[in-house]
Amino acid sequence: MIRVLLTGPGGQLGRALMASVPTSVELIALGRDQLDLTDPVACREAVLQHRPDWVLNAGAYTAVDRAESEPELAWAVNAAAPGALAGALAELGQGRMLQLSTDFVFNGEQGRPYLPAHPPAPLSVYGASKAGGEQAVLAGLKGGAHILRTSWVYGPVGRNFCLTMLRLHSERAALGAPLKVVADQVGCPTSTTGLAAACWRLIAKVAAGQSLQTILQWSDAGAASWFDVALAISELAQSLGLLERVAEVLPITTGDYPTPARRPSYSLMDCTATRSALELSGEPWRHALEAVLRQLAAAQP
Ligand SMILES: NC(=O)c1ccc[n+]([C@@H]2O[C@H](COP(=O)([O-])OP(=O)(O)OC[C@H]3O[C@@H](n4cnc5c(N)ncnc54)[C@H](OP(=O)(O)O)[C@@H]3O)[C@@H](O)[C@H]2O)c1
Repeated sequence: MIRVLLTGPGGQLGRALMASVPTSVELIALGRDQLDLTDPVACREAVLQHRPDWVLNAGAYTAVDRAESEPELAWAVNAAAPGALAGALAELGQGRMLQLSTDFVFNGEQGRPYLPAHPPAPLSVYGASKAGGEQAVLAGLKGGAHILRTSWVYGPVGRNFCLTMLRLHSERAALGAPLKVVADQVGCPTSTTGLAAACWRLIAKVAAGQSLQTILQWSDAGAASWFDVALAISELAQSLGLLERVAEVLPITTGDYPTPARRPSYSLMDCTATRSALELSGEPWRHALEAVLRQLAAAQP
C-alpha cells in the first residue's frame, strides 16, 4: 500500500481526491482541524508522526483577490507550509511530495501556451505565494518533489466560477439584467474529476518506477475566456433543466471589471508532456463542464 498524507481534504480538489482514492492507497486525510497549514511546526510534526510515502498537498489559500490584503496568510499557507512539509520528508529521508500549483505563476504576456520550464513571473500575491511554494518544495525535497500546475479549477462543490455563474444567472434573469463577463482573459477550466485522476495517476506511475519530469501541468483540453465559459454554462444548464431562465451573457474587458488582484491575460498551459507521461488524455473542457452540470442536475430535489 502507498501511504498518502492528504492536506485540504475539504477543498474542491480534496473532495474529488477523497471520492476517488485508489485501492492501492492508504489515505491519511488531515483537514484544518487536524493540521493548521499556518503552523510550520505542526506541518513538520504531522509528517514525522505519519511517515507517509507521499504528501499530497491539496490545501491552499485560494482567495486570489483577498490575498492582496492578506499577503502574510497567503505566503504562510502557500509557501511556508509546503516548504515545511517537504523539509520534514527530507528529514525523514523517505517520501515524495505532490504540490499543486497554478497558471497564475505566469504573467500571461507570452501569448502562447506556457511550457513547464517557463520561468514564473506572477502578477498577484496569490501567484507569487504559489510560485514561492513551488520553490520551497523543490529546494526542500530534492529528487522527491513533484509540482502539478493547474488552472481555473471547478467542481460540483466549493467556491468556483461555475457555481457562481449558476447563482448569478438566476439572480440576473429574475431582474431582467445581463450578466457581464470578462472576455479578454484566456486560459482553460479544469474539472476536479480529471484533476484528481491526474494526481492519483502521477502517484501510481512513480510508485511503479516511472520517472517523471519535476514540473507537470494539467488542465482540461482546449482554451476559453471566462466569457466563453459563462456562455457554455448558460447553454448547458438550460438544456439540462438546471436553470429555468438564464441572463444574457455580455463580454466585457478586464478594465471594465477592476479587481484587487491582477490576473494574466493568457495563461494557457501546454499539458502535452504531462498527458503523455501520465497516459491520460485531457477531456475537452466543455464536455467536462457538461458532466459536472449533469451531476448537479441529478442532485436537484
Ligand atoms: N481554485 C482554482 O481555480 C485553482 C486554480 C489553479 C490552481 N489551484 C490550486 O489547486 C489546489 C486545490 O485548489 P482548490 O480549488 O481545491 O482549493 P480550495 O477549494 O480553496 O480548498 C483549499 C483547501 O485548503 C484548506 N486550507 C486553507 N487554509 C488552510 C489552513 N490554514 N490550514 C489547513 N487547511 C487549510 C481549506 O480548508 P477549509 O475547507 O477548512 O477551508 C480547503 O480544504 C491548490 O493548490 C490551488 O492553489 C486552484
